[in-house]
Amino acid sequence: MRALLSPQSGDHTTLQLRDVPEPIPGPGEVRVEVEAVGINYPDVLIIQDLYQFRPQRPFAPGAEFAGRIDAVGEGVDRFRVGQRVLGGSGWGGLADKVVLPADRCFAIPDSMPADEAAAFLMTYGTSQHALKDRGRIQSGDRLLVLGAAGGVGLAAVELGKAYKAQVIAAVSTAEKAEVARERGADATIIYPSGPLDSAEAKAFTAEIRKIAPDGVNIVYDGVGGDYAEPALRSMAWDGRYLVVGFPAGIPRLPLNLPLLKGCSIVGVFWGAFINHASAQHEANVAELISLYEAGRIKPLVSERFPLERGGEAIARLQTRSVIGKVVVTL
Ligand SMILES: NC(=O)c1ccc[n+]([C@@H]2O[C@H](COP(=O)([O-])OP(=O)(O)OC[C@H]3O[C@@H](n4cnc5c(N)ncnc54)[C@H](OP(=O)(O)O)[C@@H]3O)[C@@H](O)[C@H]2O)c1
Repeated sequence: MRALLSPQSGDHTTLQLRDVPEPIPGPGEVRVEVEAVGINYPDVLIIQDLYQFRPQRPFAPGAEFAGRIDAVGEGVDRFRVGQRVLGGSGWGGLADKVVLPADRCFAIPDSMPADEAAAFLMTYGTSQHALKDRGRIQSGDRLLVLGAAGGVGLAAVELGKAYKAQVIAAVSTAEKAEVARERGADATIIYPSGPLDSAEAKAFTAEIRKIAPDGVNIVYDGVGGDYAEPALRSMAWDGRYLVVGFPAGIPRLPLNLPLLKGCSIVGVFWGAFINHASAQHEANVAELISLYEAGRIKPLVSERFPLERGGEAIARLQTRSVIGKVVVTL
């Protein structure tokens, strides 16, 4: 079978398509014949040894995927061969077949095509865990989403609306703002795409305040960098600042701000949450699938690449040019 492997640390150009033996599922595991792989920013990081997890090389990136169960290991009664599933194992997806624990797979409704299923779990799972479990989102909350047309950002916009929040989407281009609006954002802000000087940072806070004069209750920050402090300055009393990711860099924040605003800065680590609270994770995924079936959330797959061009798909995220999700189809 084919696998797009990372034989050494480096960017997408270091990936190599190779023939490898088919993996055999062990006890409690299943093998999935992969039909589509959702690309996420962690794929950019993991091949450069910049992610929280460092798999042994050579490994195939690709944290989440959809396909059909192709073989089941001993003791697996949850799935049968031929069943359509989506799943996530952190890496390994950019290959014809992947083995993972059965409890990391979920049955796909008939109405869900493989490319949408492959672009579902990590973005919606992260944003749901952030907003609901960590952000205690309530109906009527004012929610600011940074990077609102990216993978986790657009999922946060849709879920924010599903949880009946007022959603303010902040993005770097007019095209991204339009997409966030189409997906339900009540208001949009376009921030500069380069580093922010102090006047631009103040202007960003002022724009948020213009839309939410009493401040925002939740900031969903999957961007970091220079955008974090002006967003924190726009928070309402007792707000929750959700730390999700740092494609623009890891920010340093003045700690007098959470004191003055009586707000919390809350870490979100979905990959660890699913290990710490597997029953809650299963219930969360069931809720997400119901929301999908009700038409409340739907991955926006904007580009598709074949496996041999999987490196280009990863590069698209690195160059900040993706709207919604890119997917590799096999
Ligand atoms: N905490 C968790 O559990 C968890 C889980 C999954 C992902 N993440 C993290 O969440 C972040 C977003 O992941 P994603 O898959 O949604 O990525 P994505 O689709 O590429 O979206 C990232 C967004 O960040 C913004 N951005 C700002 N500066 C950027 C830069 N220098 N390079 C690239 N993008 C930049 C872009 O929006 P604008 O152009 O509009 O600014 C872009 O749409 C990543 O840091 C990822 O590691 C965290």
